[in-house]
Amino acid sequence: MYLFSFIHFLQLSLYLIITCILLSFQSLTLMADTGNQGLVYLPNKKRSVPEDLVSDNTDAKKLILSSLPFSGGLVDPAASLASLRHEFGEHGGVNMSIEASATFTVLEPETTRRIFTGELGPDRDYFLYSRHFNPTVLHLGRKMAALEGTEAAYCTASGLSAISSVILQLVNSGGHVVAASALYGGTHTLLAHFLPRVSNITTTFVDIMDLEKVEEAIVEGKTSVLFFETISNPSLRVANIPELSRVGHSKGVTVVVDNTFAPMVVSPARLGADVVVHSVSKFISGGADIIAGAVCGSESLLNSMMDLHNGTLMILGPTMNPKVAFELSERIPHLSLRMKEHSNRALFYATRLEKLGIKVIYPGLQSHPQHEILKSIANKDYGFGGLLCIDMETEEKANKFMSYLQNYSQFGFMAVSLGYYETLLSCSGSSTSSELSEEEKNLAGISPGLIRVSVGYVGTLEQKWNQIEKALARFYEDFKN
Ligand SMILES: Cc1ncc(COP(=O)(O)O)c(C=O)c1O
Repeated sequence: MYLFSFIHFLQLSLYLIITCILLSFQSLTLMADTGNQGLVYLPNKKRSVPEDLVSDNTDAKKLILSSLPFSGGLVDPAASLASLRHEFGEHGGVNMSIEASATFTVLEPETTRRIFTGELGPDRDYFLYSRHFNPTVLHLGRKMAALEGTEAAYCTASGLSAISSVILQLVNSGGHVVAASALYGGTHTLLAHFLPRVSNITTTFVDIMDLEKVEEAIVEGKTSVLFFETISNPSLRVANIPELSRVGHSKGVTVVVDNTFAPMVVSPARLGADVVVHSVSKFISGGADIIAGAVCGSESLLNSMMDLHNGTLMILGPTMNPKVAFELSERIPHLSLRMKEHSNRALFYATRLEKLGIKVIYPGLQSHPQHEILKSIANKDYGFGGLLCIDMETEEKANKFMSYLQNYSQFGFMAVSLGYYETLLSCSGSSTSSELSEEEKNLAGISPGLIRVSVGYVGTLEQKWNQIEKALARFYEDFKN
């Protein structure tokens, strides 16, 4: 009886040992299959009690994003993106899995407390609640950080929520911002009207082409942020990012750049800016079907914005849905190809229209006042961006030409927004910049007949140019009579 039990015990032990060996061999093979890139989720990592963690947690809050790869050293954003770890799906799929959970489990109650103190975070695969951090959104953030060459990034529900969250994180009540006078209408309104009303944060708008004026406008000890767009919406003024960053830093302010018009084309953080914001709804999405934003900056800024008790991303809750983050992360790999084609076509149309004697604003043209600046700061091979403006002088003429381009020759659509594969046309003064006063429009270089053209890439170049010529011919006929 005893002998039987002993043999049984030996058999059972042998079975357990063999199973353990087989299981560890299997996991080794799995790791070898995926190369040393690693899997998205280390199986059951979260299931273990975090005994391995340091007991002195004074620096804990700094750890939240510390595992993000920092590829700021690579100059070409496409190379930087390609150096990112590829995230495979949970079941070995070539695409990562979507983590669609609003909330996350813990094995030990103590773990939740440690997450709330900031000691445990996404860098160790500890997640809490998707308004705070979601693994799929965090992955898109990693791509945005690689694109912009910043230590960290996180994505938001819209471009404007990214901008307002950054400003509210960096500027206290009663504080001061210096901003470019040529800005997207929504951002202008936020700074000129909304923030003064709700938080007594005031803004001085200046012509950022004049570095002395920028320097004068910064009040040391009061101004916290210098804000401008790489290429301004809609007048396409190009910011001298290295010089503006130098001026801002010499006065101790944080330089925040909206790079919505120039992803891939210009990398503001690689030129000295501290924070880069995006309306991801535009070129990065490319499909005109998603509203999204991003904040790219230092680990410490992103950590402070994510702080469970004080961070603007956590407290104001401009949260991106993980399903949206997944969709966007599938589009970033072809962003570089799309930007090149947007730029190629914009330069082609701008050059031809200018030859026809039409007043065109395009930073790729020699005639553009900041052409040399853009040439000196642009990344190689991405051109000068996908937006051009045609100045038709009056709103009436602009409307007529746009309606021919859409309804007569099918060149593009009359719609606000930009970065779509089809061409989008809008008269900025009466649409996206209509909240500006006449004087503010004047300062921003927005004439009543300014048509902003977001150049798409569908169709052949010849076919599309013919459509422009056809609309022009009809337009000239009208205005001859
Ligand atoms: C330059 C710029 N920044 C920010 C925004 C706001 O982005 P969203 O519409 O994604 O909130 C826009 C929108 O047009 C924009 O053009």
